[in-house]
Amino acid sequence: MIDTLEIITDEIRKCTLCRLCEDRTNAVPGDGSSLAKLMFIGEAPGRNEDKQGRPFVGTAGKLLTEILEEAGVSREDVFITNVVKCRPPNNRVPTNQERSSCRPYLERQIKLINPKIICILGRTAYESLLKGNSITSNRGKLIEHENRLYFLTVHPAAIIYNPKLKSLLKKDIANLINTLSKLESKNNSMEEYL
Ligand code: URA
Repeated sequence: MIDTLEIITDEIRKCTLCRLCEDRTNAVPGDGSSLAKLMFIGEAPGRNEDKQGRPFVGTAGKLLTEILEEAGVSREDVFITNVVKCRPPNNRVPTNQERSSCRPYLERQIKLINPKIICILGRTAYESLLKGNSITSNRGKLIEHENRLYFLTVHPAAIIYNPKLKSLLKKDIANLINTLSKLESKNNSMEEYL
């Protein structure tokens, strides 16, 4: 059967695979371009995202949008989603069971979009996708894993608690965009950047 982003979105909106479906207002499948070269993966929707059914639309999302725009990238040209598609109560970190129930949706989204680089936002996504633990000591790195390129950076929500991180996130995003355009312009192999 042919898979499409619309099919995945519909399934996520109706999903009852874990208990997060019980309290959600809206599931948040993710949004952006199906042709995106860049995909961003955060942790899970927060209160505003749950209300609107769209990822990264609250305070952290506005910071991310602003930093992307400063780097010359519009949200519509990338794809933004989360490890878990429904809001955990009080924004707690999603459990392993919640992450694994949601995992096939994320894998199908990655497979269909087939981005050149996946940008991991923060610890939960780092842990879930690459089994990493310290995002602060690994941020700024480009990593190859199972034939995909991942770029690591801090979660934009971290800036709310530690404003000094804003310049780091800006720097990382600028590097990420730069790496992507080099990869594209010369059609270089990923090894050159690792
Ligand atoms: N934090 C996330 O990880 N994802 C969102 O969509 C919003 C806030």
